[in-house]
Parts: sequence; C-alpha cells; structure tokens
Amino acid sequence: MSNPLVAVVLAAGAGTRMKSSLPKVLHSVCGRPLLDWVLRAAAGTEAEEICVVVGHGAEAVTAHVESVDVGVAVRTVLQPDQLGTGDAAACALAALEPGRRDILLLPGDMPLVTSETLVEMVSLHAADATAVTLLTADFDDPTGYGRVVREIGGGVSRIVEEADCTREQRQIHEVAVSTYVFDEQRLRAEITRLGTDNAQGEVYLTDAVAALFPDVDSVSVDADEVRGINDRAQLAATESLARRRINEGWMRAGVTMRDPATAYVDAAVELEADVTLMPDVVLEGATRVRAGSVVGPSVRLVDADIGTGVTLSYCVVRESSMGDGSDCGPYASLRGGCSVEDGAHVGTFVEAKNSVIGRGSKVPHLSYVGDATLAADVNLGANTITCNWDGVDKHRTVVGEGVRTGSGTLLVAPVEVGDDAYTAAGAVVTHDVPPGALAKGVPALNVEGWTAAHRPPRKQRP
Ligand code: UD1
Ligand code: MG
Repeated sequence: MSNPLVAVVLAAGAGTRMKSSLPKVLHSVCGRPLLDWVLRAAAGTEAEEICVVVGHGAEAVTAHVESVDVGVAVRTVLQPDQLGTGDAAACALAALEPGRRDILLLPGDMPLVTSETLVEMVSLHAADATAVTLLTADFDDPTGYGRVVREIGGGVSRIVEEADCTREQRQIHEVAVSTYVFDEQRLRAEITRLGTDNAQGEVYLTDAVAALFPDVDSVSVDADEVRGINDRAQLAATESLARRRINEGWMRAGVTMRDPATAYVDAAVELEADVTLMPDVVLEGATRVRAGSVVGPSVRLVDADIGTGVTLSYCVVRESSMGDGSDCGPYASLRGGCSVEDGAHVGTFVEAKNSVIGRGSKVPHLSYVGDATLAADVNLGANTITCNWDGVDKHRTVVGEGVRTGSGTLLVAPVEVGDDAYTAAGAVVTHDVPPGALAKGVPALNVEGWTAAHRPPRKQRP
C-alpha cells in the first residue's frame, strides 16, 4: 500500500538570469505562470497538499499562490535565505508535521512536466519501496545540469553538479531535473547531514541521493518535458514546445489549424470541435470559441466569447462577445465589454467599445460605436460616429430597432434615435429623434467660450 503523498515545489531561487523584476516562477508560458503549470501537474497526482517554498519575491509569489485554485490545498513556506536546494527542502520539512509519507519534490521552473510522469514516479516508488525515486532525461546539451552517475549495474549512485564534475563526468548526457519522490523519514534523516563542501558552497539536495544509495530508483522521460527555465531564451523555447502540445491537443479534439506554427493559443483558451484557425491568430486569456467559427487570418482575441458559426478576420476582439452567425472584420476592433448579438455584422475599419450591437444589425464601414446600444436590425451608414465624449464625460447613445442612418451621421450623445427612424447623410443629431422620423441638417454654429466653461484648465507644458 502506498503512503500518503505531499508535494513540495521549490520556488525560492533568485532567477537571476531572467534579469527581471518579476519573480521567475510568475513569468508565463502560453499565458499561464510557470508556477501554475507545476501546481496543476502536482495536483494531478494523489498529493493531499502542495507546499510551495518561497524566498526571492516571496510576497508576490505568495499573493499569486493565494489567488489560484488547482483543486488541492496549496500553502507557502518561507526559505529566508537561498542557501541551496537542500536548504529549501529542509524548510519545507520543518513546516510539515512529521509523518509516514512520500514527498514529491519538484522545481517551480519546469512547466511542461506532466502529471502522468509524476504519477509514474510515485507508483514506482511505492512498488519498489526505495528511499528515493528521481527523474532523469538525456539532454543533447547537458550544460548547467547535474549529471547522473550510474553504477556498473545501472543503478544511480549520485548526482554531480556541473561545477563539481570531472572531465569524464561532464561528458554524461543523462541529467537530474530536481524532481524526486522521497520517503519522508529517510529524507528527514539525511537532510540535516547535507554539507556545503562543493564548488558553489550551497546545500545540495542532490547530495541526498548519494547518501541514500543504493536505495535509489529512477524514471527517465523525454528531455522536452523537463526543460527548466533559467533565461528568456529558454522561456521562449519552452513556450514553443507548450504551444505545440496545446495545438496538437486541439487538433485531436477536432479543431482545424491551417498553420499550427502561427496559431498562438493560450493554455486557458477553450475551443469546440469544428473551429477553424487560419494563420496568424493569437487567442489569449479566458477566450472561448464555439463550433463552426472561423478565426483569422490575423486575429487577436483576449477574453473573448465567440459563438457558433462566427467569422473573424484581421481584427482584435477584447473582453467582448460575438453571437452565433455574427462576423467582424477585416480591420475592426471590439473592446471594453461589447456584445455583438446573433447575426450582427461589424465590417471594415470599425471600432466599437462598451456597446451592444443588436441581433442582425449592421455596422459595415468606417464607424465608431462607443457607449451605445443598437437594437435589432439597425443599419449604420458608412462613417456613422457616436460622439460619446463631450471632452469631460462619456454619454450613451441609444438606437432603436430598424433604424437606418445616412453616411457621415454624427450621433451626439446623450441621444436616442427612435425605432425605424432615419437620418440623412451628414446629419449632426443633437436631439432625440422620434420613432419613424427623419433627422436631417447640419447645425454647425460656433459657441464662444464653451471649453473654459466646461472643462478644468489643461496642464501647461513646461
Ligand atoms: C538544480 C540541481 C541540478 C539540476 C537542476 C535542474 C541541485 C544542487 N542541483 O541545479 O541537479 O540539474 O536544478 O533541475 O539541486 N531553489 C530554492 N531555494 C534555493 C535554491 C534553489 O527554492 O536556495 C529552487 C529554485 O527556485 C528552482 C530549483 O530550486 O526552482 C532549482 O534551483 P536552481 O538554482 O535552478 O538549481 P540549479 O543550479 O539549476
Ligand atoms: Mg536551474
């Protein structure tokens, strides 16, 4: 029978090579912080609890940990000084009530490790009842990693850090990736004995492996799953592996990608079967796209909710929704909580912000629709503009069902256009239009001194 399992994530290191004010584990791969990838992988095991060791940037990392929910209790433990991985593990153990458990220990900067691999390690550990089971991989370029030294019989005898390697050891391509399952009591017994007699003067957790020899097991995985991130180049390389994994998953789930190499789909995005992604699309945040929609070419979606059978090309949709059968683009921008309802059309060179574009309504060309509510079956003529800002405050425009505006209409908010009303080309609409009426004319009069009476004085440039 296997012991209860606790996961410990090491995330206290300085991450110096990132050259960033943001703690390394909060940098993102496909829109998801590195730490969240690791927490999710750990949560996919039988772990009862996850303990994150924080140090560098502790405040930001702790606040982040408190904001995420991976379905398992996660707590943070402070490592006051970053004296090495052995010291980090000791801090975690000191915070845990001693028990008869297995400890799954993994680094916070290795986002692509899978729950399947971790479960395999935990299972092997339980089956063989060894003191430690470690994860290894063969790297073409093992520079910087701890090398796995094996006995003649094949068992792992120890891990030697790059800085401590002999010339022969440096030729070894099998590396350790800071991922272990330890028997808690055996680890507790060794952890206090770890020294700092090494080239970096750090407390090496890897030394626990030599101490526990020959009671050591290992699991090997593909190198791409366990690439750590130390700098921005490795961050980008890992992101491209993650992207490939995400895209393959969606293609298997029924999504067509004309060119997966240029489809950038964040980890949290949801796609239905029979969505088509054309080249050059960036889908970010909590975006969701339903069946039969065609996204792209050249589309950016951020927290967008896209219905079925929607067509989007050369456009940006942020924090907005598009109803079934609607379309947007080319060259359009929706932002700030727009709701484009079923069958509505947003065409070329159109910007809409914080507006409702009603069922079947059309905004085909060169318009700005801001802080407006368009009812169903409205048609805005080319270059119809809602003048929503008076220079101080924003105001709403309300357009009734079946309204047709002439080209170049300016709707000066606050203003309401009644159902089935028309405006003539070039109309400047400053008063409400009754249902069924035609508004026409251009009353361009000068009002002297208007600005001084309506707006605080502008800051003068030095
Ligand atoms: C470590 C391993 C090495 C392995 C490599 C990649 C040791 C001695 N070496 O080396 O065998 O090949 O990772 O997996 O363990 N951390 C802390 N507190 C500390 C130091 C580090 O929490 O005081 C955390 C880091 O945030 C990171 C992880 O431990 O998540 C690994 O630390 P890092 O400094 O990257 O270790 P390496 O020198 O790369
Ligand atoms: Mg490292």
